[in-house]
Parts: sequence; C-alpha cells; structure tokens
Amino acid sequence: MIVGIIGSGGREHAICSKIKESAKISKIYCIPGNAGTSKIASNVEIKIEDFKSIKNFCLENKIELLIVGPEQPLVNGIVDYFIDTKIKVFGPNKIASQLEGSKIFTKKICSKYKIPTSNFKIFENINDAKKFLSSAKFPLVIKSDGLAAGKGVYICKNIEEGITAANEIFGGKFGVAENLLVEEFLEGEEMSYFVICDGENYQFIGTAQDHKRVGEGDKGKNTGGMGCYSPSRLFNSQLAEKINSEIINPTLSAIKDLGTTYRGFLYVGLMIKDNKPYLVEFNVRMGDPECQTILPLLEDDLIEIFVNCCLGKLKNKIRLNHKKSICIVLCSKGYPDEYKKNIPILGLDTVSLKEDEYIFHAGTKLENNEILASGGRVLNFVSVSENFYNSRKDIIKLIDKLNWKNGFFRKDIGYKVIDV
Ligand code: AMP
Ligand code: GLY
Repeated sequence: MIVGIIGSGGREHAICSKIKESAKISKIYCIPGNAGTSKIASNVEIKIEDFKSIKNFCLENKIELLIVGPEQPLVNGIVDYFIDTKIKVFGPNKIASQLEGSKIFTKKICSKYKIPTSNFKIFENINDAKKFLSSAKFPLVIKSDGLAAGKGVYICKNIEEGITAANEIFGGKFGVAENLLVEEFLEGEEMSYFVICDGENYQFIGTAQDHKRVGEGDKGKNTGGMGCYSPSRLFNSQLAEKINSEIINPTLSAIKDLGTTYRGFLYVGLMIKDNKPYLVEFNVRMGDPECQTILPLLEDDLIEIFVNCCLGKLKNKIRLNHKKSICIVLCSKGYPDEYKKNIPILGLDTVSLKEDEYIFHAGTKLENNEILASGGRVLNFVSVSENFYNSRKDIIKLIDKLNWKNGFFRKDIGYKVIDV
C-alpha cells in the first residue's frame, strides 16, 4: 500500500515509524515531514494548507491512504476536499472537526447532551464580558473560541487577569473574535484519553499525561508539550466506563444528529476528580507528544487499524502492552520564546538505541546531509520499560550522550509516577 502522512512533528515521525513495520506498506510519503521521516520515507515539500497540491500529488503518486496528523488541515476540511477521490483519508471531516475547531461548538454539545464539563458562559462583546467579570468569583478560565495552537486559554486568578484576557481575545490576538468563553475552573488532575473511531464504533487506544509548562515542577510558560508518560496513573476500568458512557457516546451521537459521523483519532482531554471525568477539551487528532509514548506500546498493525477505520470496520479491541512509556522533548534554548534556528545537531548517529528506545524528530530538517534544528521542540526521546523510573533514566542517558549544546529539557517528566 502507498501511504501519505501530513505533518512534520514528532507525532508524524512516530506514526511513520510504526506503519513502516507493517508488511502491507510499499511506500510512504511525508508531507512535508522532517529529517527523521526523510530516513524512512520520502519527504514532499508541499505546504499542509495547500490542499490542491496535496490532492494532485496523491493522485499522481497513487497514494491509497492519507493520514492527517495535525488539526489545522482537518478543521479546514481536508477530508471533505478528497471526497471526490477514491483515496482513503484518515481523520474527521470538517463538521466533526469542529470539536476541536470551536470550543463553543463543543460546549453547546455538552449542554445539550448533558456531558460533564465545567459551567460556562459565552460573551459576544467585550462590554458584556467585563460586566460579568466585575462581579464574578475567581479563578476563572477564559478561552478564545477557535484554534490558537494551545495559546488561547487564560487561567485567571483575579479580575485584572480576566480583563487582560478578554481584551486580548477581543483585540484579535488569536484572529477575529466574535465571542469568548468563560469557564469555571476545574479542580483535579488531568488525563488524556484516546480512542479511534470508524464512524460507528470506536476502540480505546491508550492514556497519557503531558507536561505543558516549560519549567520543572510544571512552572513557567505553556509550550506545545515538554514530555509525557503513558499510561496515566489515574486510569482504571470504572473510570473508562464513565468516560465512554458520559462523554464519548453522547458526543458521537451529537455528531450523528448533525447528519454526519466521526472518523479518526479522538483525543479526550479530561479533568479527573474523585474518579469522575469532566471534559476539558476535545482534539480531533493524536496528541503530540502523547502519540510518541503510546504508539511504541501498540501490539497491532497500525495500518490495519487505519484502513479498518476508513472502511467502518474497526471491530477488534486494540492491543497495547502493559509497559511504561516516557517521552522527553529536547528543545532549543529559548523556547517557547525566541530561539536560534538552523543549528546543527551533531553526533545523532552515534547515539545507539536499545530495543524499546526511540528518537522521533520534531523540528528538524536535513540540509547537505546535516541535521539542523528548525523548530523549538526538536527531538523526542522515548523509552519503554517495566517501570517509569527506568524509562526516564534511560532517556536522560541518551540525551546526555547526544550532549547537544543548544538544547534543554525537563528532567522531571513523569514526576507524579516516579517517587525519586
Ligand atoms: P484547552 O486548550 O482547553 O485544553 O486548555 C489548555 C489547558 O488549560 C488544559 O490542559 C488545562 O490544563 C487548562 N484548563 C482548560 N480549561 C480548564 C478548566 N475549566 N479548569 C481548569 N483548567 C483548565
Ligand atoms: N500535547 C497536547 C496536544 O497535543 O494538544
């Protein structure tokens, strides 16, 4: 089978590596990919928003399955754009992708279908928002409606922070804002829960917990993710049952009531309190770096899963082994603020990996046979073992061996599941 993958992050390198293991694969194209994918697939220099060129390339190169990694092309309707072709496109369509594309869309579904989530209010102008905030109890969470690359969420401790958030959102910091969402602050511990849906049925494909803050002890600015571990310590079958019946089933019914179905990964971002799940957000794709920790645990053929999903035949439970997986992200110094670009990463070939150890590239590119860091999050080091302590210890050894002077990473990833 000839397969295309859209995206250029660690998630897409992990997907590429996993499907490469399948006997069914004859060729993989990554659009645009990174230095890591270029070693195991063919990178294609097309922008991910250029649907026309992607479609032409897929048709010319006889791509049979196109896997969409990031949210933006899904929210922009790439799946719908391919509807007149025979190419299977893995991911939800434009309507279903609103679950990530519009937080207000999701909140309205939560209200209508009684899905547990924080109480909320929607404001259509700054004056009404300010009036509400002036007598509100804090902390509160203020969010822009649309995609904001993880940045449109403000946890506000007091009215001043609330007003700043409202001004920034209505001021257009995340694009033209017609409305704003104010949410009650949820106490508890977060867990990310992943399923894969075929339009009718869905199967569980793991849990993880990520560390979004740049600094150790979860301090400092928010990032795209500094590392994560899988499975989450909060997971148990009773909780899974509640997540399925109280959150996922009604959401999939809501999408059906809109006259369509959900197909693809569904990332359920949850706050767990007293073993009860509350929905924080949906994402219509795999998490990054959660994907990099979960796929190494997968015991089934990922290509078979994707194809069955596209055919509406995802019948079997997905098998994951019971090991403990950690991913640590090596970032460019300065990230998430300004950082230097095009810095060579020397000696990557000399870092030898044991079984169950992986390096997935994120912001890298290959130029004149040299690997350069082109993004803030550069390399994902993953180790799978019998316990989280060993996984993290082994990763840190690998990062120390590489000794990339322009990089930094958090040494405390997984501290909630590692005592020392
Ligand atoms: P979101 O993009 O909606 O997932 O929000 C990003 C992060 O903000 C989440 O991962 C949570 O850590 C935090 N967050 C969002 N909404 C809430 C809430 N209602 N209560 C507490 N924390 C929240
Ligand atoms: N790691 C968080 C996300 O993928 O949205």
